[in-house]
Amino acid sequence: MSFLDQAARLRRLAAQRKSPILKAPKRTRVITITSGKGGVGKTNFVVNLAIALSMHGKRVYILDADLGLANADVVLGMVPKHTLHDVVQKKKTLAEIAVTGPAGITLLPGGSGLTELADLPDAEREALIEELLQLEGLADILLIDTGAGLSRTVLSFVEAADEMFVVTTPEPTAIRDAYGVIKVAVQKHSQKKISVIVNMARDAREGSETAERLLTVSRRFLQIDLQFLGAIRADLQVVEAVKQQQPFVILFPRSRAAENVQEIAAALLELPQEKQRGLAKFFNRLARLWENGSRSLV
Ligand SMILES: Nc1ncnc2c1ncn2[C@@H]1O[C@H](COP(=O)(O)OP(=O)(O)OP(=O)(O)O)[C@@H](O)[C@H]1O
Ligand SMILES: [Mg+2]
Repeated sequence: MSFLDQAARLRRLAAQRKSPILKAPKRTRVITITSGKGGVGKTNFVVNLAIALSMHGKRVYILDADLGLANADVVLGMVPKHTLHDVVQKKKTLAEIAVTGPAGITLLPGGSGLTELADLPDAEREALIEELLQLEGLADILLIDTGAGLSRTVLSFVEAADEMFVVTTPEPTAIRDAYGVIKVAVQKHSQKKISVIVNMARDAREGSETAERLLTVSRRFLQIDLQFLGAIRADLQVVEAVKQQQPFVILFPRSRAAENVQEIAAALLELPQEKQRGLAKFFNRLARLWENGSRSLV
């Protein structure tokens, strides 16, 4: 057998090893990103993290679930023709509204001014869930960008997801509100896998001190250990990138903020993940929470 034949055979074997027939496909990791206070940088974090993870070879989807003020598309500089709004109304399929962004990430655009997802009428809710179920097998990681605060929609995503990321800044008001979300997530929505990201930190020390405050109160009053995933510096290049409508990990890859997001992506891939439920369970759970209405969420 020639060297070239041998190389081809090895490639075939390697490909087979990755084949879903021989090895069950890995379940999608579903992460809800939220905050107590608004404007702490969730959407910028989600978009840039998605790109960083994609650079690590992951297939990443962003679900823009902040339907009141959806803006992941703006941060990405994209102008999607269709949104979840069209899916809900059965005018488009999920595949038709999905748009490909930098580094191959996929955005499911939210569309502004829509009713809260959790309050959709039965038929619309069913149409949406049915479409979302088709993501199974397509994504390694699904990042759900939510609005700030404790709306029914946000809480349903918090409860149904495998894990939750809470973004805060070092401001005392943001920390207090982050703790408020964590408390409700733990006590009312049985979410135990919670990571903290500190955005707009002056330096690494301010980042870890801020996280430590949240970790300490959560351990003491909620008997839960949070993970500190990392801090992102306050960085004028982030502001500049937002103005230019390009993600900062692409526009300014050597900026402090971009380096921090890359570190967080690496840390995230290291986190233990034994409890993944998969997308079907996630969306079925979500559907049940929405069906049961306010009883189970508030
Ligand atoms: N690391 C950072 N350094 C400097 N400025 C930042 C940083 N992160 C975010 N910002 C600024 O904060 C603004 C708000 O960010 P973003 O829209 O991501 O917040 P959000 O939490 O998603 O807001 P909302 O609660 O409205 O959804 C950005 O437009 C940017 O100007
Ligand atoms: Mg946002």
